[in-house]
Amino acid sequence: MAGLLRIHVSSTRNPVALRSGTKQTYKRASVRVTCAAYTPKKRYSIAVLPGDGVGNEVIPIAVDALRLAGSLEGLELSFEELPIGGVALDLVGVPLPDETLRKAKQSDAVLLGAVGWPKWDDGPKHLKPITGLLQLRAGLEVFSNLRPIRVFPQLIGSTCLRKETVQGVDLMIIRELTGGIYNAHPRGFTTNEKGEEVGFSTESYSSSEVDNIARVAFEIAKQRRGRLCSVDKAAILEGSMLWRKRVTKMASEYPEVEVSHLLIDTAAMDLIRHPTQFDIILTGVMFGDILSDLAAVIPGSVGLLPSASLGDSGPGIFEPVHGSAPRHYGKDTANPLAAVLSAVMLLRYGLKEEKAAKRIEDAVFDVLDRGFRTRDIHTTGTKLVGCKRMGQEILSSLNARVLASNGSLVQLQN
Ligand code: IPM
Ligand code: MN
Repeated sequence: MAGLLRIHVSSTRNPVALRSGTKQTYKRASVRVTCAAYTPKKRYSIAVLPGDGVGNEVIPIAVDALRLAGSLEGLELSFEELPIGGVALDLVGVPLPDETLRKAKQSDAVLLGAVGWPKWDDGPKHLKPITGLLQLRAGLEVFSNLRPIRVFPQLIGSTCLRKETVQGVDLMIIRELTGGIYNAHPRGFTTNEKGEEVGFSTESYSSSEVDNIARVAFEIAKQRRGRLCSVDKAAILEGSMLWRKRVTKMASEYPEVEVSHLLIDTAAMDLIRHPTQFDIILTGVMFGDILSDLAAVIPGSVGLLPSASLGDSGPGIFEPVHGSAPRHYGKDTANPLAAVLSAVMLLRYGLKEEKAAKRIEDAVFDVLDRGFRTRDIHTTGTKLVGCKRMGQEILSSLNARVLASNGSLVQLQN
């Protein structure tokens, strides 16, 4: 977890620590500094689950951004770090300790890094890091997974596709998360009549499962450009046939939303060939998993993709789409923007604190405008930096807007 965020007031040169729970007035030695922007009104507790690998590099940056943006909007955010994934297996022998789930449930939002580590790859399923994530999703009943894919104008050069193909892409994959083939029963291993081993999972969706996720997608489509494309394999799969029937039925409740249906194979092709046609892509857990990694090709890096997993009530999970990236871990090469943009989603969708969300989003744009790029999005003419430096630049951008009551600019100490 990130340590104290140290700021100092340039007129006094006295360092003060800014952390949640700190009172409005800071006292250090004989100097009293009042930060005008720091007037805590609302309190939120955030469960922080960095998990494995680069999760530990990008999440502290997201926490710092949340803390600073929150303080600027008078929010008092408290953070508690909890283990999940391989880290939890190392610590207590299970991928999702009871305490992590309990505290996550009590929190206002969960900020998650990544789960998965090679050491644990070959273990039985109940001892795999990703099982912890699936258990957390089930425990918090977060059935809708929102994965926005946007091509920022500053990053148009980072895509390997044609610029004119990806220019202006702003779509959101809305993926069902707690049903379908990942979760449905029966599943398991058995032996067939030839004595062979057989592994099987069930691709099934019930009408309420489809209705719940479709409702979320229609509501979000209404607030966006009003185009919803439902993706399935209704030509073959019964779960998909029901999916299409329920989505079609719900469409009559939303005359303002233009609905289309695509089979997953065609959708995959269209997503790359003509991505600007999409606004909302509504799909199931498995197709959504594949399409969202495929969609990462559009902006050019999975290191840019945030996500939110939401239920009807209770805390959501906010996490970068990239995984633990063992190859990048410890090299300071990870892109923290997906985690920072997940913090934006946490504020926007989880806490409904749009102003604080906007502050972080603007800071991301500012850093990109100033030309900073991690390795995955680096192009000639831009400044190649590591994960930490990118984080510092985001904080500097946020911090540039902090004014102490005496009018002096409060600057970040790097
Ligand atoms: C994702 C991941 C997860 C998923 C794994 C880690 C369980 O790939 O969030 O996309 O498939 O949902
Ligand atoms: Mn995935």
